[in-house]
Amino acid sequence: MLEEIRPIVLAAGKGTRMRSELPKVLHRLAGRPLLSHVLGALRSAGYGRPIVVVGHGGDLVEELVRSEADCVYQEQQLGTGHAVLTALSAFPGLGRVLIINGDLPLLCPETLGEIAGSDGEAGAILAAEVDDPSGFGRILRNADGHLQRIVEDADCDDAQRAIREVNVGVYLLPAAALGDALRQTGSANAQGEIYLVDAVTALAKEEPIAAPTCAGEEAGQVNDRRELAQAEAVLRRRQVQRLMDAGVTVLDPATTYVDAGVEVGQDTVLRPFTFLEGETRIGSGCDIGPQSRIVDSSIGDGCRVEFSVLEETTLGDGTSCGPFSHLRPGTVAGKQVSIGNFVEIKAVQIGDQSKVRHHTYLGNAELGRRVNIGAGTVIVNYDGKRKHFTRIGDEAFIGCNSNLIAPREIGPQSYVAAGSTLTQDLPAGALGVARERQRNIEGWVARRREREE
Ligand code: UD1
Ligand code: CA
Repeated sequence: MLEEIRPIVLAAGKGTRMRSELPKVLHRLAGRPLLSHVLGALRSAGYGRPIVVVGHGGDLVEELVRSEADCVYQEQQLGTGHAVLTALSAFPGLGRVLIINGDLPLLCPETLGEIAGSDGEAGAILAAEVDDPSGFGRILRNADGHLQRIVEDADCDDAQRAIREVNVGVYLLPAAALGDALRQTGSANAQGEIYLVDAVTALAKEEPIAAPTCAGEEAGQVNDRRELAQAEAVLRRRQVQRLMDAGVTVLDPATTYVDAGVEVGQDTVLRPFTFLEGETRIGSGCDIGPQSRIVDSSIGDGCRVEFSVLEETTLGDGTSCGPFSHLRPGTVAGKQVSIGNFVEIKAVQIGDQSKVRHHTYLGNAELGRRVNIGAGTVIVNYDGKRKHFTRIGDEAFIGCNSNLIAPREIGPQSYVAAGSTLTQDLPAGALGVARERQRNIEGWVARRREREE
């Protein structure tokens, strides 16, 4: 039963090689902190509640994982072995534990589940063959294929350095025996740390330890920013493949960026340079991109978004946006709304079939159905201190280049004459004209020319 096995996630290291103020495990990959990928894979595999060993930036890490894991503080980072001992001391009486390095975002749940299936042995360690083994501990096997020992990169002789089978950083072991072995493990190695791998080597001398393998790609660890970028590329490819398998057309996978957890419906087309981020949901039959960024938004079915940026926005079915518009948090458009080019909207509800097509700013407002907003309309919602609210009724028609000074009520089926600056409310069905009347001065041009000559 996997749920009876508690994982111990090692996440206390500073990640010196990242050269960062932020703890390594909080760096983001596919929109989520590195550590969240590890915890997500453990959860999907079916393991019990994880124990996370935290140290550097421990408060920040604890804040992230508090709801799904127990944290143990390792005050001084004296090595991976010391980190495990710290966890075992805080949680005495554990049975088998799954120890996993916190910097392994590419492990699949299936792989984590399979390692628990190695029966008959005292425990198991996950191995993988990689193209470039530098930075990894090397796996040496006995004649019968069980683990003989692990040799850290810095402690390898030339022959060992050439071995390409490496220690991934995942171990399934009995807690009591591991604790005993760790207490007897010294720190006489290149780093002067208590190595978990030394205790595992000691256990392997007593009892057989299995060494199942996984794909080399899954062993990808994140020690520095180069490896962070490599892991990002792998995760991005997996996300795009997941969407394509679900019936989404991705015109150019190499330039399509999809965060983990984004959902896209069948027969939607994603055009190049599209970024779907955070908690974003896109319906079916949509046409998205090129060059669009959609963050934490919900898009209905049959929508079109072109060359635009959408944040915390909701679009109903059949609504279109762009090219070149910016929908900011709180934009909620109904069905078949048409948002055109060079439009900025913030905190506005827009009723079905309304049109906001050209060069407009709308802020803090509610628009009814079939409202027409003419080109160049501005809702003047900010007086330098506070935001004010504007309501525009159904089928109102706002002429071009109008300023609606908020707070303002524009009644249903009313008209605002082009070029008006409204400082009063407009009743239903009325025409509001708020501009100078035109005056033509006959012969003015000729008289000026005479004066100048
Ligand atoms: C480790 C393994 C190496 C393996 C590699 C695979 C050891 C000694 N070496 O090396 O065999 O091939 O992972 O990814 O285990 N940590 C703590 N407290 C500490 C030290 C580290 O919590 O005192 C945490 C780190 O935050 C990190 C994890 O343990 O998440 C692994 O540490 P790291 O320094 O990355 O080990 P590697 O050198 O990569
Ligand atoms: Ca590492």
